[in-house]
Amino acid sequence: MSYKSIRWIKIIGTGFYVPDKILTNADLEKMVDTSDEWITTRTGIKERHIASPEEITSDLAIEAGRRILKDAGLTVDDIDLIIVATSTPDTIFPSTACWVQRGLKADHIPAFDVSAGCTGFIYGMILAESLILNRTNKRILLLGSECLTKITNWNDRNTCVLFGDAAAGVVLEATEEDCGMLSSYWKADGNLGELLIQPGGGVRQPCSQEVLQQELRYLSMRGNEVFKHAVKCMGEAAVEVVKKAGLQKEDIDYLIPHQANARIIDATGRRVKLDKEKVISIIHKYGNVSVATIPIALHEIKESGRLKPEDIIVMVAFGAGFTWGAVTYKW
Ligand code: UT7
Repeated sequence: MSYKSIRWIKIIGTGFYVPDKILTNADLEKMVDTSDEWITTRTGIKERHIASPEEITSDLAIEAGRRILKDAGLTVDDIDLIIVATSTPDTIFPSTACWVQRGLKADHIPAFDVSAGCTGFIYGMILAESLILNRTNKRILLLGSECLTKITNWNDRNTCVLFGDAAAGVVLEATEEDCGMLSSYWKADGNLGELLIQPGGGVRQPCSQEVLQQELRYLSMRGNEVFKHAVKCMGEAAVEVVKKAGLQKEDIDYLIPHQANARIIDATGRRVKLDKEKVISIIHKYGNVSVATIPIALHEIKESGRLKPEDIIVMVAFGAGFTWGAVTYKW
């Protein structure tokens, strides 16, 4: 493939991994003052997968990575960069990507993390595109991996019903075919960072007795405010990214929004003015698994046989930062 003939970057493998243990809404009813009825109607979530005490973010990513490479018909020797999007790294440093590189025995290829909250997978796609198109890398393993339940406050009913653990991703390479990533859009607003935050554990409030007593090591979210921004920003990003691709809403075959809440998914679909069957929702099975939601949904629609060549997919996310972004992709 000559550089001049490269048009876009293309997904050549997909896959995901979720831990075996399932926590249902009925299980949560025994843990906090909540009900299956409240969780289902307010979030759409029925169950989520939970990592065992021994399982951490890199373990999930390594297993997902193996599955993605198998799906692509590749080995680790065929990739030349690992990017891991995560907000729940194994360690603050080294990066989770380096632990994944070790686990996959992908000796000496570069590896780094992307921290962009639940938008990390979209940010990773945009980064991967520029690294491939400027010839820095040929084939990139992009993973989103999260163990959110390890920073969940199991006494806080406002948040503990929402999250799950998972890893998922794609392999990306250049293509001269008429398919791949057509356009992208990314934004951030650090002024709103405090609305969705893990306050303790970094250098602002290092781990201490006080941080533990005040429960600052847990994820904290002002859900209602996050909700409003998520709907507005995801709607705007989806509309803009389609425009940037020179397409119209009628051209969209599937919208894959980040899966944080079924009501946010529906509202985003309405903002883009799409029929409900084009808007992918898998939240009932996994809960909010942050950076893994979009690549899991992509893998599932691919495996179900619903995706046809030339289908136009819009992937859109919103998360801590705040960050938000979208890509338009021609299958
Ligand atoms: O992935 C990154 C982005 N994250 C998001 O986008 C999440 C965005 N936010 C949300 O999805 C929703 O705001 C939540 C699902 C977190 C909350 O739903 P809500 O409709 O915004 O509820 P609320 O926070 O306004 O709370 C309504 C009521 C409150 O009771 P009062 O004060 O009205 O008596 C809460 O205490 O619901 C109560 N509540 C619960 N009740 C039963 C909150 N959590 C629960 C619960 N079970 N688990």
